[in-house]
Amino acid sequence: MPGVEHPSGTALNDPAWSAAGILEKLDRLATCTERSGEITRLFLTPEHARAIDMLRPWMQKAGLQTSLDSSGTLIGTLPAASPGAPKLLLGSHIDTVGNAGRYDGCLGVLIGIALAARLRHARLPYTLQIRAFGDEEGVRFPVTLTGAHATAGTFSPDWLSAQDAEGATLAEALEKFGLDPKALAAGACKAAGAFAYLEIHIEQGPVLEAANLPVGVVSAINGAARWELKVTGKAGHAGTVPMTQRQDALAAAAAMILAAQRIATGRPDVVATTGRIAVSPSATNVIPGECIFSLDLRAPDNDMRDAAEQEIFAAFRQTAEATATTLAATRLHAAPATGCDPRLQACLADAITAAGLPVLRLPSGAGHDAMAIASLCPIGMLFVRCAGGISHHPDESVSESDVAIALDVMTATLRHIDPADFIS
Ligand code: HGY
Ligand code: MN
Ligand code: MN
Repeated sequence: MPGVEHPSGTALNDPAWSAAGILEKLDRLATCTERSGEITRLFLTPEHARAIDMLRPWMQKAGLQTSLDSSGTLIGTLPAASPGAPKLLLGSHIDTVGNAGRYDGCLGVLIGIALAARLRHARLPYTLQIRAFGDEEGVRFPVTLTGAHATAGTFSPDWLSAQDAEGATLAEALEKFGLDPKALAAGACKAAGAFAYLEIHIEQGPVLEAANLPVGVVSAINGAARWELKVTGKAGHAGTVPMTQRQDALAAAAAMILAAQRIATGRPDVVATTGRIAVSPSATNVIPGECIFSLDLRAPDNDMRDAAEQEIFAAFRQTAEATATTLAATRLHAAPATGCDPRLQACLADAITAAGLPVLRLPSGAGHDAMAIASLCPIGMLFVRCAGGISHHPDESVSESDVAIALDVMTATLRHIDPADFIS
């Protein structure tokens, strides 16, 4: 039996773009990984290229014209009926952390493509563009939100010299991927004419599940800063140097990391994480001479984060003095707390209400591509419940019914957004 014809002339229950079809595609996308048995897909890697090659025909089947920009962002465009119409951007990322879940980022891209398929004949008053960013996590290189910054026109040419663990620069990796770092540095990726950006993303937290709600409207995205700390002491013989004469870089770093934990725990809504640490010479019988560790510091308000940062670094300096070590701090990334546009929040809230659901507005503890797009145009986000709030972990999961609700809420949102409300 042919699908029920959607007012836009597109079968609403085309199985390819149903919630089940989206989840099936996400399972296939998950096979684009560095090693089987887990999902690890870093920026500008062969698995990133395989993911692009998998998404491109899906975009084209949905009626989108596809292109790849110089930052590695795959773009699907559904042109408006009238040329020169303003653009509504919809996107998220397809890179992952190590041993990740399959929905962080990718769910938003697949729902975006499904929305384009649903609305391809709806004669929207704007051009709809779906953007699949290649680097939101910032795992391979010590920079992050690369594709979103390129879209916003805020990509810094300095980032091209950032190196990965093998010493390859971002510029070399872009060229190896067949992209042009010079065009990227010259701002060629900036999305002209964008009047708004929307991102659908799993919540990665427990709030929607606790409220027993499938979706929620994001009010703001917590600000984040990422630091690399290098503690330098003096390597020595583990058996002969008396404890009182040691300059143990690892012991000092451990005290600093615990101080950061203690300080953040004492400040409501501030979170501090050390996710990476490296010691040298890293031998059982040698006192560590050097220790490098990361610090990820976040808060819903920039002043809160700055105050926590000051207290943490004062504790770091005290520890360095007390352990006769030295500390070098490099800030790798900083994104201010970012508010979601009230008009876009209202569009999403109206669509949720029309779906017969209560509206919950909630902040995002996780960072998102939307933070970088906020300098280009107003941003809005829809969160989808994820089981146990688990993310950045293989157990990440969403339900088909919640994805179906997100699809319907976003379809209504896109059908009712009026560019005139955003263009003065
Ligand atoms: O770190 C974050 O919040 C995001 O997952 N990149
Ligand atoms: Mn994400
Ligand atoms: Mn993530």
